Amino acid sequence: MTTQAFTYDLPNLETGQIELAQAWANVPSPLSQQQVIDTESRVRHLLTQHDATLVAHYYVDPIIQDLAEETGGCVADSLEMARFGQRCDSSTLVVAGVRFMGETAKILSPQKRVLMPDLMATCSLDLGCPIEEFNAFCDRYPDRTVVVYANTSAAVKARADWVVTSSIALDVISHLHEQGKKILWAPDRHLGAYIQTQTGADMVLWQGSCLVHDEFKSDELSHLRTHYPHALVLAHPESPAGVLQQADFVGSTAQMLKAVETMDADSFIVATDQRLLHTMQRSAPHKNLMAAPTGGNGASCKSCAFCPWMSMNSLQRIEAALSTGAGEIWVDESIRRDAQRSVERMLNFRAAQVA
Ligand code: 13P
Ligand code: SF4
Repeated sequence: MTTQAFTYDLPNLETGQIELAQAWANVPSPLSQQQVIDTESRVRHLLTQHDATLVAHYYVDPIIQDLAEETGGCVADSLEMARFGQRCDSSTLVVAGVRFMGETAKILSPQKRVLMPDLMATCSLDLGCPIEEFNAFCDRYPDRTVVVYANTSAAVKARADWVVTSSIALDVISHLHEQGKKILWAPDRHLGAYIQTQTGADMVLWQGSCLVHDEFKSDELSHLRTHYPHALVLAHPESPAGVLQQADFVGSTAQMLKAVETMDADSFIVATDQRLLHTMQRSAPHKNLMAAPTGGNGASCKSCAFCPWMSMNSLQRIEAALSTGAGEIWVDESIRRDAQRSVERMLNFRAAQVA
């Protein structure tokens, strides 16, 4: 195991400055091929024995993504993980992702046991939006509709009117803007600014950022594009404005995956966690995929497009969670009920869209 240290953005409401705070990620060492085969087989058995289903995000180790798919679970973006977890009949969900994803599953399905391979797998957006400061921010703007990104704690969701994920944020805010609502948005400043530009909505923004996407560099991206003038750029909306302005498509992880399959181009430059490229390459084997640059000239990258907290998910930790019951998610019931209201608003909005 290696311990990696990172700084993340922690906005200070009093000074208006963005301070840097420190976080850690304990990343397990890779297994040998034989260990993978043996552990996978034990995990398959444990999933059946415990009536459990594995729900994985596109950023976890491709070995876990494949196992989730093969065992009848799902690999998805954060919105579909939530929807799948709610629909799924198993009494136990194993959520391979980061903590807010496990908490969302529990918020929606309190009767299910929700296990995570590692409860310390967090997110810089969640860390950068502590509930006390967020409450103070909301108190400053009592006339605004509070819309928060899913990458937040259960307590922040409970304070919000709406929870959204990257795949639905634009639609929800357009809808609220059409109703004349003014918005308080948290925590991702890049996604918030992008939505503001696209919709013209009146928004005040919390100044958090994603450790991974914040690192994509617009100058290096334009340089790369001069070498590959026919390549299309796909970007996750947590990326900085200079990157989003160059993007031919901006969307959630699942939407980018679809874009690679359907857009008429042979080459793509992709600004998101590089593990999504594994799934993209499999679904579009003849397309040429390149990772967008994260390090500037002479500068080093922090995450280098691999979310350190997503990297904390491993087969061994899934096995340990299933065999010992460790890593169970608990959410205080009064917080859960309030958070459920704002998450279900998003799910009902999605259901009405697809109806
Ligand atoms: P998606 O909603 O696109 O899955 O994104 C979640 C996330 O954490 C991206 O960094
Ligand atoms: Fe959070 Fe960014 Fe990691 Fe997604 S990629 S979980 S937003 S730190």
